Amino acid sequence: MSSRQILLSGLFLWIFAIVGTGIVAVTEETTRERIVENERRILLRNLNALLPVEELDNDIVNDIKNLPASKLLGTELDSIVYRARLNDEPVAAIFNSIAPNGYNGKIHLLIGVYRDGSLAGVRAIRHRETPGLGDVIELRKSDWVLGFNGRSLTNPQPDDWAVKKDGGIFEQFTGATITPRAIVQTVKNTLIYYKQHANTVFN
Ligand SMILES: Cc1cc2nc3c(=O)[nH]c(=O)nc-3n(C[C@H](O)[C@H](O)[C@H](O)COP(=O)(O)O)c2cc1C
Repeated sequence: MSSRQILLSGLFLWIFAIVGTGIVAVTEETTRERIVENERRILLRNLNALLPVEELDNDIVNDIKNLPASKLLGTELDSIVYRARLNDEPVAAIFNSIAPNGYNGKIHLLIGVYRDGSLAGVRAIRHRETPGLGDVIELRKSDWVLGFNGRSLTNPQPDDWAVKKDGGIFEQFTGATITPRAIVQTVKNTLIYYKQHANTVFN
């Protein structure tokens, strides 16, 4: 092979490497943007499921506040609260709470609390509870989670914030009390957190 051929081969290899790297970089960037956009859409769908669109007029996905780790919210790190507003007036706060004591570990929840401390709604957004037992916390599997709508710390009274097996008013599931017990406790604790921080959550 002449030195000219070697030089040409080297040049080709170099161009090939540059173009290849460029294609990978562009694909990665496009995919990343698509993932971020998908996550945003899923989040918005979850938030809108808790609050009817006509109840707010702000960009709720970006109206956020970082909250430090809190035992009441079940968080070990900072978490995000989303704020819903209408005509610049606070409407509701949606907390990312965690029930730490599900049957199979943490249950991630979105918990919407209206300004007056009543519940807009609760959704389980991530969990590993057992299919057919604990997973009926998902709205697509049962309407159990809707039983929280409109509840507050005075409805029922604090002592009744428990599953029926523990003397409270919330239904448990057949053969599965651990999952609903964990969620009832975390929803109640989130309402207590809201009560303690209502003045600052919307600032
Ligand atoms: C394989 C297996 C999976 C289970 N998964 C769940 C579950 O996801 N959620 C739950 O509450 N209980 C689950 N249980 C049942 C719990 O072990 C427990 O018996 C039930 O929640 C009643 O709890 P209690 O005695 O505190 O009322 C599961 C049991 C087995 C054997």
